[in-house]
Amino acid sequence: MYFYVAIDIMKMYNNYILIFGGDVVITYNKEKQIFKLDTKNTSYIIGFLRDRLLLNLYYGKKLKDFDYNLSDLSVHGRSLTSVEAGLEGAGQGEIHSLDFSTFGNADLRLPTLHLKYADGSMVSCFKYRNHKIYAGKPLLKGLPATYVEDDSEADTLELELFDELQKVSVTLIYTAFNNIDAIARSIRVKNEGENQVQIARIMSATIDMQSAAMDYDFLHLDGAWARERFVRRQPIYKGNQEIYSRRGISSPHHNPFFAMVRKDATELNGEVYGFNLIYSGNFTAGIECDVYDTTRAYIGINPFTFNWELESGDEFQSPEAILTYSIEGISGMSRIFHKLYRTRLCRGKFRDTQRYALINNWEGTYFNFTEEKLIDIAKKGAEIGLDLMVLDDGWFGRRNDDKSSLGDWFVNKEKLPNGLDGLAEKINAIGMKFGLWFEPEMVSPDSDLFRAHPDWAIQAKGRASSLGRNQLVLDLSRNEVCDYIIDVITDVLSNANIEYVKWDMNRSFSEFWSFGLDSEHQGELCHRYVLGLYRVMETLTSRFPNILWEGCASGGGRFDGGILYYMPQIWTSDCSDAGERMRIQYGTSICYPLSAMGSHISAVPNHQTGRECTLATRGDIATMGQFGYELDMSKMSDEELAQAKEQVKFYKKYGEVFHKGDLYRLRSPFDGNEAVMEFISEDKNTVILNYANRLCTINNAVVIVKLAGLDPDAIYTEVEGHIGNNTFSNMVTVGREYSGEFLMNYGLKFTNQRDFQTTIRIFVKK
Ligand code: GLA
Repeated sequence: MYFYVAIDIMKMYNNYILIFGGDVVITYNKEKQIFKLDTKNTSYIIGFLRDRLLLNLYYGKKLKDFDYNLSDLSVHGRSLTSVEAGLEGAGQGEIHSLDFSTFGNADLRLPTLHLKYADGSMVSCFKYRNHKIYAGKPLLKGLPATYVEDDSEADTLELELFDELQKVSVTLIYTAFNNIDAIARSIRVKNEGENQVQIARIMSATIDMQSAAMDYDFLHLDGAWARERFVRRQPIYKGNQEIYSRRGISSPHHNPFFAMVRKDATELNGEVYGFNLIYSGNFTAGIECDVYDTTRAYIGINPFTFNWELESGDEFQSPEAILTYSIEGISGMSRIFHKLYRTRLCRGKFRDTQRYALINNWEGTYFNFTEEKLIDIAKKGAEIGLDLMVLDDGWFGRRNDDKSSLGDWFVNKEKLPNGLDGLAEKINAIGMKFGLWFEPEMVSPDSDLFRAHPDWAIQAKGRASSLGRNQLVLDLSRNEVCDYIIDVITDVLSNANIEYVKWDMNRSFSEFWSFGLDSEHQGELCHRYVLGLYRVMETLTSRFPNILWEGCASGGGRFDGGILYYMPQIWTSDCSDAGERMRIQYGTSICYPLSAMGSHISAVPNHQTGRECTLATRGDIATMGQFGYELDMSKMSDEELAQAKEQVKFYKKYGEVFHKGDLYRLRSPFDGNEAVMEFISEDKNTVILNYANRLCTINNAVVIVKLAGLDPDAIYTEVEGHIGNNTFSNMVTVGREYSGEFLMNYGLKFTNQRDFQTTIRIFVKK
């Protein structure tokens, strides 16, 4: 079959070279030096202008054919801009839409790559040297990245450029996925000369959009501790709009994600470009819009805290950026990211399976627990059908508050006289698995570890250190520190039956300096830290493949694709209040799947907000993510325990629909009073509508929610659901049948009945 397709396409693309991998076609027009990368519904087209400039010719809805003339590219001349040397007659440097750029020639926009050479020069001139196209996708050494399980899933283009004067080569790596509308990009730089070269800036991807900036909005996710990833949509303005982290971790302040959303695009319709960096450290991302409305989107390591020395023969590999394009609105973009990350970024035994429903003792006891107390909580958990009991902070050293002992990963026998193994045995005997909290990247000044190795912490020599939560960050740029962490955690995990680990990280960097690096390499600390972290995580997660690993950083302070490569779920936020979680989980779902979000029911009044949501609301919000409880279960009444039992059953029955299904966000809590999300199961047969309102208004208007993504001709039967604490009211009719067409066009009607009330309605295709 491919043969006939090939012949057809051959006819279309006279003198193109074709490479096939499944349905993906990367075509190369040698004469015009154009590369066309196709995913199922998108095309990404780049080409060289006289070997010298790599142009972005098109990115968007799939094009069958593509041809261009130089005259298509030229716009009116611009005064006070220079003609690129060697490109006389082809217009000024700044008018071209580029896919790769350096600073210092005629294009003065923020570049992809900025190198400093031994002679003090910062001017580069890269030209095409070579390229290869192959089926599959390479792994990135030492870095997390999306992957394929079979070479037919994607094709890769590696484009090599060379600076003849400075003897530096750059390889631009592009992968087009076959069935997922995503392009993965990264860059490798090699010093092929004799002299040292410094990398001052390296973006994983820059792309000059063909569209006028003013037609798009800049959408991104910002926040802070306990209010992570709130959705912001702002018009693009002239100038540089940027989101970033300089905090050492990707951080809750901005997420390494943004989108360009066409002005008329909504959640369900219209053009959206998404950009995400698979990286857990300092990043920068944004859009530079110049005075002519040309728009350069960029994403990569934050240059502010980065300077990398490249010795003769050395290579540097950038993290991976993922680019997506959808014409199905913001939800359409999210579905692409969700599928890619769920199936081809997350790894391991738990990637595709339903995860454990758990009980975590943190908000139930904080540091104040005994073995007996933990067993009591576990017993209640077992009674309601939970799978796992997690012991959070406070089990080690002399840690009775957050002032000491991080780094001393030895059990506190006063609290746990039978050790972790004894506790695990007792919990296992109840029928529950046992899980444990660590904060491996940290050290308390009051700890044996710090007293033995003060130089293992990130601190500036001769200066006082700023503490965050009374602790310092261990210097993971040093191999011996990483090895210590690997050994000490291996030891704990090998000596008790631990089947889940929560990996926490509770502060930002300060006093950026390493005792392990010489003065010339201090600019490498932050990136080397991330590489060290990834080595530690890779070693431990592959050494203990049967453990379910959950990431955490003061809640969702490091919720990124880098962590998801090692740990398939992340504690979404330290705010466990269902009312706030309506927003936090909604915002997080813009880029990340529900399967990645840890989400628990906690006690009321809520410890962060003081709010008192009903147990039903807390359940309806928590069951959408990786579900659990985080309260003292031994204090729950029989009635509450009975309701909790139903919640666990619900989660076990429908969890997969939330985690693997297609998400359609129907109403945004950032635009109004409701958060409405619809999930359609992988087999398209089950549809769950989660309608959550925030503040109720009296005598209010009816809210009509039109469903999306259904089969218009199919009949859907309403099978289960509830409004608030009630099982069913006459508004929801179990057994009633609706056509898909009706649900999508007429819709369902809701009224706001109570503050922070949720309604669940479940339909099954007949
Ligand atoms: C962080 C985490 C919490 C909890 C505490 C323990 O704040 O986000 O879930 O584990 O640390 O100290």
